Amino acid sequence: MEIKYVFIFFIVTCLHYASTRKTQATPEFDLLIFTQQWPATACKEWKKNDSTHTCVMPKNVDTWTIHGIWPTKLGTMGPAFCNRTWLFDPEKIRPIEIQLNQVWINIFGGTSLYSLWAHEWNKHGTCAAVLEPLNSELKYFSLGIDWLQKFSMNNILQSGNIVPSSTNAYSVVEINNAIKAKLGVDPAIECKKENGESYLSEIRICFTKDFKITNCDGIVSRKVFDYHSILTNCNTSKKILYPHYKDSKEGSIYVQLYKLVSWVQWFTL
Ligand SMILES: *[C@@H]1O[C@H](CO)[C@@H](O)[C@H](O)[C@H]1NC(C)=O
Ligand SMILES: *[C@@H]1O[C@H](CO)[C@@H](O)[C@H](O)[C@H]1NC(C)=O
Ligand SMILES: *[C@@H]1O[C@H](CO)[C@@H](O)[C@H](O)[C@H]1NC(C)=O
Repeated sequence: MEIKYVFIFFIVTCLHYASTRKTQATPEFDLLIFTQQWPATACKEWKKNDSTHTCVMPKNVDTWTIHGIWPTKLGTMGPAFCNRTWLFDPEKIRPIEIQLNQVWINIFGGTSLYSLWAHEWNKHGTCAAVLEPLNSELKYFSLGIDWLQKFSMNNILQSGNIVPSSTNAYSVVEINNAIKAKLGVDPAIECKKENGESYLSEIRICFTKDFKITNCDGIVSRKVFDYHSILTNCNTSKKILYPHYKDSKEGSIYVQLYKLVSWVQWFTL
């Protein structure tokens, strides 16, 4: 009797092991999440953690950039790190490096030039690579460039009169509607919060495995939850800030005040 149970337990354990091995070998996912970030907010967050931090901004500071393309199984996170021996190799993206440096920029000053790309490739790209159109670094990063050209939030939000501003703020419903009006799908909208304010930080749009745009409903991603069918972690009961880079943090008022004081000094001396 005892032996029999031990034997059954052994078989079940083997089957379980085999099934997890199988999942590792062929990553399973439903969607590709294309995440764009707003550099001004990312920079603000980076500086907030450490006052010595600096940011490397794109030439046009008020432009959405790429964070990543993330294969995702509905209702769960990941898969991630699908091939730990296929590490990011900068040589593979040389032909598009100059472009990537603008549109898929690592804004975290002082960190290695390639750290963002290495992270995105090692964690997400190696999983996306089971799809033939994404089975190389060059293809994965090129798709990012292509999608940003087609789906840049600069144009999409602007068409809904949502523009970076130091004075206006927007409800998450307005932002969601602007995207839905243009793309016809539900995005996910992410904010960073500071001193009770919500700052627009990332917008995610979703694609099927045959690269057709689709709703993001059902994704489970960092801090994003469902609010009246809007996928967001932003505070839905107040307006969201969409700041210019120059306005963020120490910019505006203190600099202005300093200039004024300098000018008054110059004038009175
Ligand atoms: C800032 O610190 C928090 C908490 O330690 C961390 O979760 C977050 O990722 C950091 N942000 C940046 C941009 O480094
Ligand atoms: C992992 O990547 C290496 C290097 O590209 C490749 O040779 C290998 O076949 C990959 N393994 C799997 C399980 O895809
Ligand atoms: C959202 O904003 C409202 C209004 O300012 C505030 O009362 C509430 O505490 C905020 N909620 C969160 C979770 O920050």
